[in-house]
Amino acid sequence: MQFFNKFDRFYTTSVTSPFPDRLNGRHAAIIARNSDQLAGKRILDIASHDGRWTFAALQAGAAHVTGIEPRQELIDNAIATFDQYGIDRSRYTFHCGDVFEHLQAQTYDVVLCLGFYYHTVRHAELLDRIERTGATFVIIDTEVIPPEGNAGSAASDDSRLVFNNPNSIQLLREPVDDQQMACSDSLTRNGHTLVGRPSRAAVEYLANHFGYTSQNYDWAAYFADHPEHSATMNDYHKGWRETFYLSRK
Ligand SMILES: C[S@@+](CC[C@H](N)C(=O)[O-])C[C@H]1O[C@@H](n2cnc3c(N)ncnc32)[C@H](O)[C@@H]1O
Repeated sequence: MQFFNKFDRFYTTSVTSPFPDRLNGRHAAIIARNSDQLAGKRILDIASHDGRWTFAALQAGAAHVTGIEPRQELIDNAIATFDQYGIDRSRYTFHCGDVFEHLQAQTYDVVLCLGFYYHTVRHAELLDRIERTGATFVIIDTEVIPPEGNAGSAASDDSRLVFNNPNSIQLLREPVDDQQMACSDSLTRNGHTLVGRPSRAAVEYLANHFGYTSQNYDWAAYFADHPEHSATMNDYHKGWRETFYLSRK
């Protein structure tokens, strides 16, 4: 049985793409492919949301997972879910707040940065802090600048669909009152903060700068095997979302 079908409370604890095909497809790329890298490790889950990947990492045998999430109601959902599924509370910790306030000098073996690297303009600083944790394996699952030809209208109201962004650094404004978006921070004005969507090359450049080699999940092969999943995974399928694996000795 697919992972989240066994733990289907996760289909109800978030309004951020909790679709079975999507969560299970992402599980293949984030957890199943990397189970050897996660078992027995101390892991940081940045933007832990309703605990979906904290939980999946624990089920994959992680020794301990720390989640950072600014929305307390999502942390409350996570803890209720973990209690329902019998996860010992000593195996995880959630901190409520901004990753840049909570990630200071802690050490981790593995860092998960899932669905967050396009909700910040502080990409280099975040990777700097991740590298300073000592982590030798980092998973970044992020929207990226889409390929030419998939471009939509720059006039769209949905910041995630502004593909022909006239700002060359792919600078976007994002509402902070939406649970899937950035949280309010010092850059926030009029209910919006500034975020930046990186290109694939930018993620790899930053990874290399901080001493990591980078590989990608083969989403094309995945969709060749699971064409029916493309409906709820349009971003991965159309090439405007990527899963990167950063490694170093
Ligand atoms: C698109 S969701 C991703 C959820 C989950 N990690 C996933 O990949 O399925 C973005 C999450 O980032 C959180 N977030 C926003 N700003 C943040 C910040 N400054 N520090 C940590 N988390 C943040 C949001 O509250 C939300 O839960």
